[in-house]
Amino acid sequence: MQLLFIAVLVLISTVSNAQKVAGGAELKIGNSRRISLDDGWRFLKGDAAGAERPAFDDSAWRPVGLPHDWAIEGPFDPKYNPHDGGLPFFGTGWYRKHFALPASAKGKYFSIEFDGAMSNARVWLNGQELGGRPNGYIGFAFDLTPHLKLGGADNVIAVRLTPEDESSRWYPGAGIYRNVWLDVTGPVHVARWGTYVTTPEVSDSKAKVQVRTEVRNRGAKRARVTLETAVLDGQGKVVAHITSVLALAAGGEQKVVASVEVPQPQRWDIDRPYLYKLVSTIRSGEREIDRYVTAFGIRTVQFTKDDLLLNGRSIRLKGVCNHHDLGALGAAVNRRATERQLQIMKAMGVNAIRTSHNPPSPELLEFADKLGLLVMDEAFDMWQIPKVKNGYSKYFDEWSERDLTDQIRRDRNHPSVILWSIGNEIEEQGSPDGWKVARRLVEICHREDPTRMVTSAMNSPVAAIKNKFADELDVKGFNYAERGYEQILKEHPDWIVLASETESVVSSRGVYHLPIEKYQKHPSLQLSSYDIIAPPWAYTADVEFDAQEKNPRMLGEFVWTGFDYMGEPTPYFSRRTNKEDWPARSSYFGIVDMAGFPKDRYYLYQSQWTAKPMVHVLPHWNWAKHEGKKIPVMVYTNADEAELFLNGKSLGKKARWSEPVELPVGKNVSDDLKFKSKYRLLWQVPYEPGTLNVVAYKDGKQIATDERKTAGTPARITLAPDRSRIAADGEDLSFVTVRIEDKDGNLCPLADNLVRFKVEGAGKIAAVDNGNAATVEAFQADYRKAFSGLALLIVRSEKGKAGEIRISATSEELKAGETTITSAR
Ligand code: GAL
Repeated sequence: MQLLFIAVLVLISTVSNAQKVAGGAELKIGNSRRISLDDGWRFLKGDAAGAERPAFDDSAWRPVGLPHDWAIEGPFDPKYNPHDGGLPFFGTGWYRKHFALPASAKGKYFSIEFDGAMSNARVWLNGQELGGRPNGYIGFAFDLTPHLKLGGADNVIAVRLTPEDESSRWYPGAGIYRNVWLDVTGPVHVARWGTYVTTPEVSDSKAKVQVRTEVRNRGAKRARVTLETAVLDGQGKVVAHITSVLALAAGGEQKVVASVEVPQPQRWDIDRPYLYKLVSTIRSGEREIDRYVTAFGIRTVQFTKDDLLLNGRSIRLKGVCNHHDLGALGAAVNRRATERQLQIMKAMGVNAIRTSHNPPSPELLEFADKLGLLVMDEAFDMWQIPKVKNGYSKYFDEWSERDLTDQIRRDRNHPSVILWSIGNEIEEQGSPDGWKVARRLVEICHREDPTRMVTSAMNSPVAAIKNKFADELDVKGFNYAERGYEQILKEHPDWIVLASETESVVSSRGVYHLPIEKYQKHPSLQLSSYDIIAPPWAYTADVEFDAQEKNPRMLGEFVWTGFDYMGEPTPYFSRRTNKEDWPARSSYFGIVDMAGFPKDRYYLYQSQWTAKPMVHVLPHWNWAKHEGKKIPVMVYTNADEAELFLNGKSLGKKARWSEPVELPVGKNVSDDLKFKSKYRLLWQVPYEPGTLNVVAYKDGKQIATDERKTAGTPARITLAPDRSRIAADGEDLSFVTVRIEDKDGNLCPLADNLVRFKVEGAGKIAAVDNGNAATVEAFQADYRKAFSGLALLIVRSEKGKAGEIRISATSEELKAGETTITSAR
């Protein structure tokens, strides 16, 4: 038995490193159950008659690798809908891939699995239509077996996508933007998403792990097999296992429910995200014929009307909403870019992500599991009543049950997922029968996963409550309802309530206009970063902190948004009628800009959401021609008090929360459009150049400092890669921060120098950015202007090419910057 388990362990490590294959060539199947089909596609932007036919000549099409987002390449155009980032994500696109299979593949079963294709996919194999999927965010799979040619013959997969204009309220991307896999099995195997792991009883001494496994027999013969269900700990040691004997009819399927006990279980938690592996092995006699690996965690989640308990410990949701794009990389999924976004959020004190407003990539959930982030996994932005002309409402009646079911089956083993959301700001809240649709969707969630609660993000509390829409939900999510919490909680003492969407403050990193503008358009197409500007339905972070504090039954919040995203350039939204709004093309809502650089607000959240000593001072200190004029200086800290100094002279100490700061806010927050905040410290400082620094104290001891120095003229470029060693797999990335500094190394906060990049050796430029929401410079370029002193260069490794990647950055009149990254196999 012992030996057997060691063998299982060795095999598991091979399965998780699914191999990549070259296009057109014979696929090396070996013993892999899952093979990446990302390489070797050909792409045509536009339509082509007969492109589904195998004999069609695609040799002139562009070679591409997946994941691929055709729209992020641009060009930007003001005539496109403001929701969409000014990018051409609609139209027709074709992808084709040729591959061969050896004669030895006879007897195997093959299916192709798309993690998502944007959108309205139709798929053919060797001219035979396999099916389609309108929803771009959901994975889908087709059986290839009946139409495949073996023995080295050419097989052709053809995919036609027809994403529509006015189909989304944000930039959806376009193309096969998620990974594609080939699933290879024998006749008897675990079905796709065929394991469902729950932990109905958990204590310190043991956890009961219940596993439901769906085993299929696609063969023409009856099969007698064993199914071994083994739980492996983080070191790969088997800690529990059980074997079941199955008799499967030809073409039959069996659901096996097995329970094992894990002694002294390690809990999955946000501070210590411990993961187990479930290995399901099917054997015919002694011969292993299938193996399926599922990562899972042992944790308890309880929502009560007063609390969210994770492993019995009270947790407040410190969440952010994020759209799915990865900034300059567009919607094309990338593992490192996904991980980086979540790491940046986690470092701000975030413990939860709302995948607004659609199912995320599988990679996002994988990293949420690994990093310890809770997830509200959202399904839809609309149901039957449309929000945009060509949105999902066109497909809702036919597809919603299938889409939601598939989402839950795909995602329900992730310990990070704690809530299903059946929709965002659904218009049906306002209709008397909307609750019926809500009930149907909630029932689907409960049927597929009785262990999790269901919510929806409601933005019309009065209507949703009156129409009994809210009653259908296990957890009531309210968007921008901070003034209503008290009444809602009083009138519904048993409800479980959270703030599913909050704030929507708008700002541009490093930009400060004086006097600070209210919510209005500014000729620069930027918005001050004093973190007080919000559209009429929205409000500042402070308002929500206060509302949550005053209503402790609220379980926390999800801020709109963690990252800036393509599309929705509020308030510069009317470019079709107002040409001056162009080229604003992406959101200003992010706490972090599209390049991944934190705006000031990042530190305001950190001051509330983290305990590690921190202090942050704003604005920059380059105010030529403002000598003697008062500059508002704000300080965010989690210390007790802070002292501000200008050129060594103390401007006084202020205790946190002693002297509320008056902030202008939207009319939803207060009728006199003012709000007193105790969450920031404010000084009015007559400007003189030099050093502005802040010292934060706790219990009288200095615990953190921050400073802004008046920078001289831009003199040099520095390059700082986030990782100086990456994998030579053609996917891994290094994010290089490009800083414009004066001769003494101070950041030049107003610098917008044009920087040119050269990347040589074992890598290439993946994209460039600077976080400016109002520019239509291409993301795929070897140059970028700095924005508020910073730019970003994203470098990608080349597959199989290990060695040094030499990077240089030049700009007229600046000393060049250089750095080297190692790409290793
Ligand atoms: C919300 C909506 C989001 C986004 C946001 C901007 O109402 O749910 O998708 O549009 O407004 O403030």
